Amino acid sequence: NAKSFLVTGGAGYVGSHAVDALLRAGHHVTVIDDLSQGHRGAVPAVAELLVGDAGDRALLARVLAARPFHAVMHFAARSLVGESMQKPHLYLRDNVQTAHNLIEETVAAGVRRFVLSSTANIFASPPDGAALGEEAPIAPGSPYGEGKHMVERLLHWADRCHGLRSAALRYFNAAGAHPDGHIGEDHHPETHLIPIVLEVALGKRSHLDIYGDDYPTPDGTCIRDYVHVCDIADAHLRVLDVLDDRSVRYNVGSGSGYSVRQVVEAAEKVIGRPIPVRMAPRRPGDPAVLVADGNRLRAETGWSPALPGLEDIIATAWAWRSRHPDGFGG
Ligand code: UFG
Repeated sequence: NAKSFLVTGGAGYVGSHAVDALLRAGHHVTVIDDLSQGHRGAVPAVAELLVGDAGDRALLARVLAARPFHAVMHFAARSLVGESMQKPHLYLRDNVQTAHNLIEETVAAGVRRFVLSSTANIFASPPDGAALGEEAPIAPGSPYGEGKHMVERLLHWADRCHGLRSAALRYFNAAGAHPDGHIGEDHHPETHLIPIVLEVALGKRSHLDIYGDDYPTPDGTCIRDYVHVCDIADAHLRVLDVLDDRSVRYNVGSGSGYSVRQVVEAAEKVIGRPIPVRMAPRRPGDPAVLVADGNRLRAETGWSPALPGLEDIIATAWAWRSRHPDGFGG
């Protein structure tokens, strides 16, 4: 039952793991990626890789006309909360414009299904630190989150006006690497907690800066819900059947929250070396606690994380990174 999928940002971190899942399910995959963050080496030769801008209308029109696509999966976007606080319009203009062009061309080509890489950053930290369900109030923590919310709204109207069925998947913290060791997380510059901890373990950095220990959490550091990147990829395949009937939005997380200090402790156990840390000021845009209530995704698609444990997640990241100390460049 092979189908064709267009995957923007398929050379990036989450996108490449979704491409892997689609290929393993026997599908045909076309990737559009400008390689500004993605890596050529993250896309297997059996997928078609077009190096270009995911918002380039001429390119999109040509690609979408080449064959009937079952769905478009949209990962290509800038994705740094901190950077978005410094350069809001890269996020409120560029990310939204790219999605806008892609959605219009998707509709024009007659493709019926669209899966959006969205984010937990559309939510504020709840006062009681409770897990966030889909009905939690929308209150983006940064221009990055605001831009993703704007794209969710574009999709809402693309459904109402054109019948494009979409799934907005609000990932909490994507983490880990493919258990078979061929793809992993490699950002330039790296800003994410777990890969930075691994770089400290590899001697590439002297220490981890902990961004704030005066948050209203038990140990004062921020709490996040780390979910394995292959489990996020799996969610993209599972939502496709639901899209036959209606558009949906799901919070994608394990439901368990870990503080920055707990992540460091778990990494020390996995790696077997101490990770030196220093206290640093808060990073603008960081909410105190973001944990998913992922029950709707579980109930409606049968999703459940294959790798729910934090140490298991970190172990997959370490397995890839210790064998590829320079990431895809190595
Ligand atoms: N942190 C540090 N030191 C570092 C890096 C991170 O203390 O050097 C802390 C952050 O302050 C935060 C936590 O570790 O509390 C996790 O930070 P990440 O940068 O790894 O991830 P974020 O939670 O900021 O962001 C991630 C994705 C976003 C997404 C968000 C949703 O990168 O795209 O999760 O929760 F929007």
